Amino acid sequence: MPAFRIGNEHTLTVDQIEPQGLASARLPEGTLYIHGGAVPGDTLRVRVARKSRRMFEAEILEVVEKSPLRVDPRCRYFGHCGGCKRQNLLYSAQLDLKRQAVEDAFARHRIEVPGGVPTPLAAARLYEYRNKMEFSFGARRWLTDWEIASGEPMRKDFALGLHLPLHFDRVVDLHECHLPPPPAQAVVNGLRALALEHGYAPWNTKTHEGYLRHLGLRLPARTSDVLVNLVTSSHDPQRIDTIAAFLRRDVPAVTTFVNTIHSGLAQVAIGQSQSVVFGSGSVVDRIGPHEFRIGPSSFFQTNTEQAERLYELALEFADLTQDDLVYDLFSGVGTITLFVSGHAKRVLGLELDAEAVHHARQNADRNGVTNVAFESGDIAEKLNHDLVRKYGEPDVVIVDPPRAGLHPKVVQSLGAMRPRRLVYVSCNPESQAKDIAALAPAFTLARVAPVDLFPHTDHVENVALLLAKTVPF
Ligand SMILES: C[S@@+](CC[C@H](N)C(=O)[O-])C[C@H]1O[C@@H](n2cnc3c(N)ncnc32)[C@H](O)[C@@H]1O
Repeated sequence: MPAFRIGNEHTLTVDQIEPQGLASARLPEGTLYIHGGAVPGDTLRVRVARKSRRMFEAEILEVVEKSPLRVDPRCRYFGHCGGCKRQNLLYSAQLDLKRQAVEDAFARHRIEVPGGVPTPLAAARLYEYRNKMEFSFGARRWLTDWEIASGEPMRKDFALGLHLPLHFDRVVDLHECHLPPPPAQAVVNGLRALALEHGYAPWNTKTHEGYLRHLGLRLPARTSDVLVNLVTSSHDPQRIDTIAAFLRRDVPAVTTFVNTIHSGLAQVAIGQSQSVVFGSGSVVDRIGPHEFRIGPSSFFQTNTEQAERLYELALEFADLTQDDLVYDLFSGVGTITLFVSGHAKRVLGLELDAEAVHHARQNADRNGVTNVAFESGDIAEKLNHDLVRKYGEPDVVIVDPPRAGLHPKVVQSLGAMRPRRLVYVSCNPESQAKDIAALAPAFTLARVAPVDLFPHTDHVENVALLLAKTVPF
């Protein structure tokens, strides 16, 4: 057992960032995990603060010597808000971490990656890349150390911003956020001032009182549309009129305003009823040659430019011919289906969410794409002989499942169908590696390529190409 003592101080050099996100240093006494944004190569004076689940955790007392990998974070809320915790790490080192995360996931499942795992495709924009944000109103504001030190009087009962990590009732009152493009900040700061002026109370998660709950924003990368979705606890036409008049007058970039009423207790930005106050109630973004209409709750990749890179890779891996029948599993609003449609004979999109399927069909119509079809239902049930009888055996299958990965039934059906190529797009390399190990009797892994859609976070997307084996499954 390591011989650390709570309260002891150590001077150490940080070795690495562990897969679970904490920095660590190996000392003769054992491994010490360090909070507070430590960067590999930093020399730090730390104090052992606690022991949890057999791990000793330390807090930084002083940065003795900065690592060459350390950079100044752009945001003054760095370290408080949970938005982007790698902002103080050089971008190339962030990419190395993500590459390592993919490599480690595949190694844990004993999968050899032919050619190794390359460095993720870098994002061209490191800030202002998000086309969607969800801010929260809170009745318990989290004050930063520099806000407290300023000595200025501050309201603690109102905040509009993002949550403190792991504390869903504490909100950091953000006066700047560099993830979305600038109109977002104008809306956030303007609405805060308006709410304070008129005494509109934020939702209190303890007493279940208050009016303002969440502020959803859609800011597409390729059009100048801006959607504001204000989630409130009740229907109050007078207040909504006041807010609408303010948005029209003071933030003219806003093209549409939606009010969602959510009176339930759960702290999620999903509402019970939605009404369009002005504008179309949706925005338009473009990926490749196609336009997509996106509502307040539709799933759409949050980094448009990097999503396009991701889909380009999927298309390259699919190596389609004009005779191919493609199944796009977990097709959402049909983004990948449409993206590959010009390169194949026919594409079938399969998706659980009936509303997303409805939008996918509309998106196909809007773009004049006629060689696609969409079915709604659970893929674990839908991917069967009846589907193959109706549409034919797929030559190529593309899957893009949620974080949990593929249901065992889906793994089995894919093995039985054995398309020539299986392209696996994933937002979670761990479940992807597990599924690829399970698919090994039927497919050989040929290549992987990660893509960075979320600079300054630990999230990474990974595309894998699997080729059908010729021996029977
Ligand atoms: C990561 S998103 C991918 C969406 C789309 N490919 C894109 O890039 O925009 C995963 C999608 O899988 C859908 N989904 C989740 N579980 C499913 C299931 N069991 N059967 C079918 N679709 C499912 C979700 O509704 C979501 O649209």
